Amino acid sequence: MKKILDILSEEMGKAFEAAGYDASLGRVTVSNRPDLCEYQCNGAMAGAKQYHKAPFMIANEVAAQLEGNKAFKEVAAVAPGFLNLKLSEDYLLSIVKEMKSAEKFGLEAPEKVKTIVIDYGGPNVAKPLHVGHLRAAVIGEAVKRMERYAGHKVIGDVHLGDWGLQMGLVITELHERQPELCYFDENYEGEYPVEPPFTLAQLEEMYPTASGKSKVDEEYKAKALAATVQLQTGRRGYRALWKHIMNISVEDLKKNYANLDVDFDLWLGESDAQPYIPGMVEKMKQDGFAHISEGALVVDVAREDDKKEIPPCMILKSDGAAMYDTTDLATILQRSHDYNPDSIIYVVDKRQELHFEQVFRCALKTGLVAPETELKFLGFGTMNGKDGKPFKTRDGGVMRLSSLIAQIQDEMRDKIATNEAISAEEAEATAKMVALAALKYGDLSNQASKDYVFDVEKFISFEGDTGPYILYTIVRIKSILAKYAAQGGDLNAVELMAAQAGAEKQLQMQLAQFNTMMQNAAEETAPHKVCAYIYDLANAFNHFYHETKILGEENETRKQGLIALLILTRDILETCIDVLGFKAPERM
Ligand code: ARG
Repeated sequence: MKKILDILSEEMGKAFEAAGYDASLGRVTVSNRPDLCEYQCNGAMAGAKQYHKAPFMIANEVAAQLEGNKAFKEVAAVAPGFLNLKLSEDYLLSIVKEMKSAEKFGLEAPEKVKTIVIDYGGPNVAKPLHVGHLRAAVIGEAVKRMERYAGHKVIGDVHLGDWGLQMGLVITELHERQPELCYFDENYEGEYPVEPPFTLAQLEEMYPTASGKSKVDEEYKAKALAATVQLQTGRRGYRALWKHIMNISVEDLKKNYANLDVDFDLWLGESDAQPYIPGMVEKMKQDGFAHISEGALVVDVAREDDKKEIPPCMILKSDGAAMYDTTDLATILQRSHDYNPDSIIYVVDKRQELHFEQVFRCALKTGLVAPETELKFLGFGTMNGKDGKPFKTRDGGVMRLSSLIAQIQDEMRDKIATNEAISAEEAEATAKMVALAALKYGDLSNQASKDYVFDVEKFISFEGDTGPYILYTIVRIKSILAKYAAQGGDLNAVELMAAQAGAEKQLQMQLAQFNTMMQNAAEETAPHKVCAYIYDLANAFNHFYHETKILGEENETRKQGLIALLILTRDILETCIDVLGFKAPERM
């Protein structure tokens, strides 16, 4: 289905043409003076130079062409030459009706269906998830759902950090504690036990202990580094321990992400890209891209027109070890091999921007991907506390994601528990749902690249630009619809009607923006645009609700028309929040 501004521009273009002017002048935009009109066209102003004519004259001629036009109820040529437009209610109705019956409410399939890999989440195995990982998960999930809704083939990959020093640290710590385990016996040739030698709780304690020790104890640190290298070069017992760490940790990560309603198609990690490294490095050398610099193997990626210095991409350290750059390059090769994607989007902390700039340049330069492949870095800002500094626990430590979620849920439960009509179980489930909406909307409503302040009181408020306000609006609609049905009304038999009042028309116009908004948001990978839209839509609905008798309406046909409008509003709001990654309860 065409976008409303395109439809109106076409009508306007025809009028320009009929008056003897170029049709392209008929570009219609949303009014920047909503007190005067709904839409406007500034084409007469632009045409004045081209046709050597006063803009007001052009505007008048065009306005005359639009007399009796089905789309516009009012076309006013105003000095110095603007066209102020008001839409016909019947025409608006035809648009909203078409939208209601169209697939995806009129959002057209993309011209080219792209295969997109989204790299998000990025948790590190054996380390607990902290709030820094929240944004990657929340934004990445929304982007994944948005692109999928827009019609692309999307693959979400968690890209585990599972090959680094943290593994060597845990192994070293375990060795200190239980040196008698068969994993440490180099002469051991039997099968390794199926049961892990530690629990999740022990694992969660071991990593920070080991990390703390390695910072003050050089010898300990050297051991951990050595253990990491031995793991990476294939020492049997360490590989077996690594598997145990992975199993325990990944199971826990899956639970955590499920709690956030975040769902990955692939649970691959840095380790899975390792097999691609030797061949990749060999080819980079053969093709003359990689060379030795200060002992290390590097690929130059600087360009003459660079404004700042872009250091070379590090392929292998002087001791032959692979680096973060290497692993990301090999992962690109792996994805290229597995999916041949048109686009790879990385949802990662924006402080990693330089790393990705180097990696992308290197991948394109060395031909790991086709030159037309889009490699996109969607860097997000820091989540700050109310003091404007990176979010911390009360005692200044790194806040665990699970504690943060628990905190929001507790506050939400307290708020909801005051509603006595709801059972304890329902209150619990609702508290979870609303808390998640508060958390995700609080994040997503900000442009991803900006830092934002994590303000629990604000996020959980039922008023203002918040997730709970959106849910509250949906629940309000659902409760009216439930009452209508309880009074014997048939929700499937209602038909939309032309708006009879301003607030109603505003609501319909806002609904008609849906396909335009969704296409933009997906093209720009910008979940905050979906948030801004539903906030406006919720406001338009609540305004309409306060001005309009709905269930009390005496004219049955009109009442049905209003109910149909409620249904469409609910469906659009629920579609949008689903894309953002949360849900609304039936009541709250
Ligand atoms: N594990 C990394 C971290 O915690 C994030 C990974 C981001 N993705 C990537 N392909 N490098 O910082």
